Amino acid sequence: MKSAVILISGRGSNMQALVEAKPGLEFRAVISNRPAAKGLEWAASRGMPTGVVDHKAFASREAFDAALAQAIDAHAPDYLFLAGFMRILTEGFIDRYPRRILNIHPSLLPSYPGLDTHRRAIEAGVKLHGATVHFVTPALDHGPILVQAAVPVLDGDTEEALAARVLAQEHRIYPLAARWLAEGRVEFRGPDVVQVSGSGVGTDWAIAPRDPP
Ligand code: GRF
Repeated sequence: MKSAVILISGRGSNMQALVEAKPGLEFRAVISNRPAAKGLEWAASRGMPTGVVDHKAFASREAFDAALAQAIDAHAPDYLFLAGFMRILTEGFIDRYPRRILNIHPSLLPSYPGLDTHRRAIEAGVKLHGATVHFVTPALDHGPILVQAAVPVLDGDTEEALAARVLAQEHRIYPLAARWLAEGRVEFRGPDVVQVSGSGVGTDWAIAPRDPP
């Protein structure tokens, strides 16, 4: 069975969705850069090994990333899942795990990389928003896309309402991507494009149903 380590910074609802889905990966540990991350409590309560590498204890990104890599490598995972992990990783770190780091981002990339995606989507008046699971490359919130889910932006939406609608889809597509990896179905078509073997159109992408009127 392929294995993974999950990196978090906060509440860890995506981590929880990944673990509870039992996608056929062995989740060996949860590591946070913030000692107070809520998700650590949940992971520990499930008997998962947890670790903290506090970024505030390091003078440089390089030093933090080196310590983080050491903590990760102790578990020898095949994959790393960033699940609300709010640190920019150095190119050196990313190059250490080629095609092995996954991230979930709350927008339909390449639209709205970075922070405050829901507010920016509402302000721009887009009609579709969503979430993306992608492989991590040195360019922030870019990299080969595995799966996306779209949700409507409704009239009068608040940032909170839209975030909740997107989050429900995040909890669906991150485990889906994990399952595809576990099954060895993820193939690269060139450096930037990913395809999922054995799936027809419609099973390797997803559009969420509209909210009921
Ligand atoms: C999610 O919306 C994720 O996409 C973003 O930060 C949020 C983290 O939520 N990067 P959680 O910690 O997984 O609950």
